[in-house]
Amino acid sequence: MLQRTPVYGAYKAIGHYPDYWYWILRGRPVRSPHLLKQKVVREYAEKFGLKTLVETGTYYGEMVAAMRRRFEQIYSIEFVPALAERAQRKFAGDRHVRILCGDSRAVMPEVLALLNGTALFWLDAGYYGWIGKQGDQQRLSAELEMILSHPFPHIILLDDARGLTGRDGVPSVSDVKGYVEAKFPGRCVEVQYDIMRVTLRG
Ligand SMILES: C[S@@+](CC[C@H](N)C(=O)[O-])C[C@H]1O[C@@H](n2cnc3c(N)ncnc32)[C@H](O)[C@@H]1O
Repeated sequence: MLQRTPVYGAYKAIGHYPDYWYWILRGRPVRSPHLLKQKVVREYAEKFGLKTLVETGTYYGEMVAAMRRRFEQIYSIEFVPALAERAQRKFAGDRHVRILCGDSRAVMPEVLALLNGTALFWLDAGYYGWIGKQGDQQRLSAELEMILSHPFPHIILLDDARGLTGRDGVPSVSDVKGYVEAKFPGRCVEVQYDIMRVTLRG
């Protein structure tokens, strides 16, 4: 019920603080809280001097809301039309925020074509099956390939790296690391706090 109201995003955002402290109290388990994810996105933007954020999986627009003052341009792709429309309404007053509706694999070329410099990518669109459904198994590798082949040296953060299990057709962390580092030798891949980070070697 509350989920359908316009205040649900704000309600969820308030919950990020207790969620964060509860995560610390539990000894920092693998699944990391949203506040930590926000901190990592900010940290990488700062470290690489990035002013554009591209997100896959808008959901309730929590990452967009947290980052809207940090970036000069934000693109976020959402598959579920009701969620995309909700976010479009929510960020209607933010001219630098663009919410695109569609499958991230299909929409990614359109977003890449709009970029005129290096961007930070926050890949968070249920790559390992969403709401119990088996997703497009090739979507993650297809998007990584597109982003890393683009002329700018984009930095990529992939959430929920624990989903890279190496089982049932899903690649493992070392499969992805091996593939990226072999095909794009200037890149290095590491995982910390359940977030895979694809950055620049050296
Ligand atoms: C974990 S939530 C994203 C949370 C959000 N990035 C944040 O940090 O607040 C995952 C979202 O991905 C969306 N999604 C799932 N499959 C997708 C796809 N193929 N393309 C785009 N979005 C997708 C889901 O509908 C859901 O809204």
